[in-house]
Amino acid sequence: MKAWQIDAYRGPLHLADVPEPVLEPHDVLVEVHAAALNVADLMVGRGEFKAFLPAPVPLTYGQDLAGVVTAVGPAVTRFAVGDEVFGCLDVARPGGTMTERVAVAESDLARTPAGLSMVEAASLPLVSLTAWQVLVERAHVRPGQRVLVHAGSGGLGSVAVQIAKHLGATVATTTGTSNVEWVRALGADQVVDHRTQDFAELVHDQDLVLDGLGGEVLDKSFGVLRRGGQVVGVKGPPDRAFAKSLGLSPVLQTVMGVLSLRTNRRARKAGVRYSFLFMHSSGAQLEQIAALVDDGVLRPVVDRVYPFAETDQAYAHLATGRAKGKVVVSVRSRAGSGGFGDPVGVPARALGARLDRRRGQRLRGVGQQLARVVGDGLGGVQQRSGHGVVHDRE
Ligand SMILES: NC(=O)c1ccc[n+]([C@@H]2O[C@H](COP(=O)([O-])OP(=O)(O)OC[C@H]3O[C@@H](n4cnc5c(N)ncnc54)[C@H](OP(=O)(O)O)[C@@H]3O)[C@@H](O)[C@H]2O)c1
Repeated sequence: MKAWQIDAYRGPLHLADVPEPVLEPHDVLVEVHAAALNVADLMVGRGEFKAFLPAPVPLTYGQDLAGVVTAVGPAVTRFAVGDEVFGCLDVARPGGTMTERVAVAESDLARTPAGLSMVEAASLPLVSLTAWQVLVERAHVRPGQRVLVHAGSGGLGSVAVQIAKHLGATVATTTGTSNVEWVRALGADQVVDHRTQDFAELVHDQDLVLDGLGGEVLDKSFGVLRRGGQVVGVKGPPDRAFAKSLGLSPVLQTVMGVLSLRTNRRARKAGVRYSFLFMHSSGAQLEQIAALVDDGVLRPVVDRVYPFAETDQAYAHLATGRAKGKVVVSVRSRAGSGGFGDPVGVPARALGARLDRRRGQRLRGVGQQLARVVGDGLGGVQQRSGHGVVHDRE
């Protein structure tokens, strides 16, 4: 089978022939239909994580996927062949999703939300888990709090704005001129145009800042918090608590403590806190995220969809730093997977999901099977990115 790989850190990304994946007892084999790109893929490829998360090369790119289960390990209990799943590979596990088939721990997967295309489902896992882990797990955002999400038009920001709003926060965000209006439509109460305005002059008294930009933006973010507020940084610098959570050596813990020394001093001086967050995979959290999609709270934001053969160009687009939502690769087209714009596939999939929610163990997956039969039979072969905010079409 084929996979997009690098043979050495910083080496060129190329299409390679790779062996079929081998299943561990708790793994499922997923036929990948769509895989989303993340900035972290590029960072792993440049060797930026190798001090704390060494990835063996050749390395297949990608963590996010949506697809269909085609085999299960002997200890798997949550999924069966035919289930439609989405998820994010554990970054510590070798392997990637820019390929045709991949082995994934069942604990890292959930069933795809009803009504989403594979492309839309693949766009969600890593960024929605990150947003969830910052806003819910780390910061415990409550109704009435004020949250600033930097880069609300990015893959992470476009999801974080929606989840923060759902949690009852008043949400401010930053983005460039051409994105101001559609980011406001995601639910942001205040949108600051970073090209013409200075957020540090316009945003005040925040309880939380989610920062994925770092540098000067991070430094200035301490000034927009109320006393006792916090910045959760996902770009860095990493801190000692993060090193400890990974079980790194005392030396590496000290190194990361030193890396965040200056940032922590600035935070203390301003009477606020700084912490670094590195997301982790979680099928259980993805189930909660799927419920938000089902309830119409969370909409995927897909920027561009590339065919599998053009995955290198998809990464080149992501690397510009100008993506408007997620960049996704369509690995395999399937009839009836057309998302909210698909008049046949969508009702069939929604009905299927409803049946599956009521299923007994014996009827596991029957709803999805039904949806596939109806969708495939009537929907025609198409793959479309048709829900939420869509900026480009494949
Ligand atoms: N630690 C973790 O676990 C974790 C997880 C997820 C993401 N991250 C990090 O979070 C960061 C964001 O990721 P992403 O996927 O959202 O990236 P992305 O999709 O590439 O972000 C692109 C967006 O950022 C906006 N932007 C760029 N500069 C900006 C500025 N100065 N002010 C406001 N907006 C700006 C751009 O809008 P314009 O074109 O209009 O400027 C564009 O829409 C990355 O550094 C990534 O590594 C970390």
